[in-house]
Amino acid sequence: MKVLVTGGAGFIGSHLVEALVARGDAVVVLDDLSTGKRANLAAVAEKVDLQVGSVADRAAVDRAIAGCEVAFHQAAIASVPKTIEAPVETNAVNFGGTLNVLEAARAAGTRRVIFASSAAVYGDEAPLPVAEDAPVAPLSPYAIEKLCAEHYVRVWAPLFGLETVALRYFNVFGPRQDPKSPYSGVVSIFVDRILKGEAPTIFGDGEQTRDFVAVADVVRANLAAATVDRPEGLVCNVARGEATSLNQLYATLADLAGGAPDALYGPARAGDVRHSRAVVDRARDALGFVAKTPVRDGLAALLDWARSTAG
Ligand SMILES: NC(=O)c1ccc[n+]([C@@H]2O[C@H](COP(=O)([O-])OP(=O)(O)OC[C@H]3O[C@@H](n4cnc5c(N)ncnc54)[C@H](O)[C@@H]3O)[C@@H](O)[C@H]2O)c1
Repeated sequence: MKVLVTGGAGFIGSHLVEALVARGDAVVVLDDLSTGKRANLAAVAEKVDLQVGSVADRAAVDRAIAGCEVAFHQAAIASVPKTIEAPVETNAVNFGGTLNVLEAARAAGTRRVIFASSAAVYGDEAPLPVAEDAPVAPLSPYAIEKLCAEHYVRVWAPLFGLETVALRYFNVFGPRQDPKSPYSGVVSIFVDRILKGEAPTIFGDGEQTRDFVAVADVVRANLAAATVDRPEGLVCNVARGEATSLNQLYATLADLAGGAPDALYGPARAGDVRHSRAVVDRARDALGFVAKTPVRDGLAALLDWARSTAG
């Protein structure tokens, strides 16, 4: 099968591309390399058609999606701070880019679009753990852009018969999440500091919680979303269904690393939610997906990988 992965040179996208190549798909990647890197696709470079361009450019999306049966739309400016600084620019990519992918899919006869949404859409209001039908209350332009895009994705199923699935990723971690990028996840930043023997700064008191999910599990959720029968605008959490505080996360990493400096604490960040934990029943029932990797095991694997690439 020929498939498109937008954002396929990024952290999550590159793991997805590797899995698709491994199962024999012909993979086209559309990525503007703003945070993604060619190096992330080094292992599959010969087998992937990497097209450098923006999802905000409809013509580039039309070229990339031609002949593709399924599109995995991972491309986004995945940074809450960046969307607060430059919402017009990020909206054009995160919202406008998604509409471009939907419309290009329709024009090209692409059967299914799987969209990387975010737990950020819930904000801080919903009772925990959050199920997909909980009220949404986005707290940042990033979350608003993801939510608006998700509405389009959902509605394009009944309106136009496009098979769509929106996956609300919780906090994804794993190899290739770039700790040097200002958009990085907290886990990679902690690992980077630990390997350098430096103290990380935790924003707030560290008791905020997140539902961490390993990138390999997120890939499996995408593959399940690509094969499930008649998804019809399905919106689905992708998480483990477990809360871990940042203090617990840092303590686990410090333990796995055999020691680490005490963390420093700074002011809480605007737009950050306090607690987050998913109900994962729908993913299990509708996609047959259950996250397999315990957080501690995923952290151990990440630490090993980071040590092997440090230098
Ligand atoms: N990492 C997480 O915990 C998490 C959580 C929820 C949702 N998500 C979503 O998952 C997706 C992948 O995120 P990631 O963590 O791998 O981040 P990432 O920054 O590594 O990946 C995003 C990719 O999209 C590309 N991109 C950015 N703007 C583009 C544009 N205009 N046109 C084409 N490509 C563009 C980047 O170069 C990069 O390769 C994003 O949609 C993100 O919002 C991630």
